[in-house]
Amino acid sequence: MQSRYPSPCFVMEKKKLDKNLKIFSILKEKTNITWLYTLKCFHESEGLAHISHVSSGFSIGNLNELSLAKKHQYTHIHSYAPAFYEEEVTLLADASDTMSFNSLRQWIKYSKQCQAKTSLGIRINPQLSLSQPSYCDTSHKKSRLGMSYMHFISEYNKDSQTFEYLEGLHFHAFCHQEVSALTILLTHIMKYYTHILPKLKWINLGGGQNFTHTSYDIEVFIACINHFHHQYPHIRLYFEPGSSIVHNTGYFTCTILDIIEDNPSKVILDTSIESHLLDVAITKQSLNVKGISKTKTPYVYELTGMSCIAGDIIGIYYFDKPLDIGENIIFENMMGYTLVKQNTFNGINKANFVLI
Ligand SMILES: Cc1ncc(COP(=O)(O)O)c(C=O)c1O
Repeated sequence: MQSRYPSPCFVMEKKKLDKNLKIFSILKEKTNITWLYTLKCFHESEGLAHISHVSSGFSIGNLNELSLAKKHQYTHIHSYAPAFYEEEVTLLADASDTMSFNSLRQWIKYSKQCQAKTSLGIRINPQLSLSQPSYCDTSHKKSRLGMSYMHFISEYNKDSQTFEYLEGLHFHAFCHQEVSALTILLTHIMKYYTHILPKLKWINLGGGQNFTHTSYDIEVFIACINHFHHQYPHIRLYFEPGSSIVHNTGYFTCTILDIIEDNPSKVILDTSIESHLLDVAITKQSLNVKGISKTKTPYVYELTGMSCIAGDIIGIYYFDKPLDIGENIIFENMMGYTLVKQNTFNGINKANFVLI
């Protein structure tokens, strides 16, 4: 099969994006949450234009992401980074409606100068026992992301004046989680922060939930958010999804340049893990290839990239029929954390993008 798009190409399907966005509209309508799209996941302008019509704004990490956000409509910007530069912190605070610091040191250094500009929070690591892949598990005990909840609570209890300007808490503890993880986090919040919650204006519950997967139980989500609102009506809840917005909204198509006969034969594609599919290397995920067989067939191939790196290997797949030079190989569900990480390693051009 040959694609009508220039190769290699990320192809996003607007109909599928709209379907995902509809789920977020429903969640907002039924729970009064505010959701902010996390820009780092995918930021092609044509796609963002659609996302920004439905989201309330963006979750950003620096001035570059702020410039991207400013090209689109929004009513709310949240800023957070594992550490801010001194030069950017006031500019970000000026442009943000809410902002969270990652550590006690950065909180102490910057909260006073930023408090008149934005609503300030601190990121907490709730150290939940969740089973999640190590590359994205932010909730383990040794994580550098967020202040450990025990440390935060003990500092707060020691001298609450340190947190004089605190208006929010930020938790991003999930990676590809179902709603059961959210119930664990809300239970954690209602258990450990009872003396702090009355003083807060907002809680940002992060991203990492499979909102748009068929397995996600929306009704349980609605029930537990509404239960929390009932207990703490003065606290606005924010979510900052990334991958669930673009989940299953598009594919990546590339072309077979050569086939080296072997056992299994090696297919060289006009792509590279190094330049187009970096997330594959980091997450060690196995990609879904369109048209492969679920069972073993005689047509087994090792799909590989065109860079000079020996390990530029995508994986071994069984096909229903023999492959040919010039044919396209399609990888499914490829919009999140892929295009945003492209580079021109080895002189390989970045892949194209189309929204159809
Ligand atoms: C602080 C923060 N919030 C939200 C997200 C979005 O997470 P996801 O794309 O898994 O929904 C990320 C992703 O890395 C993040 O670091």
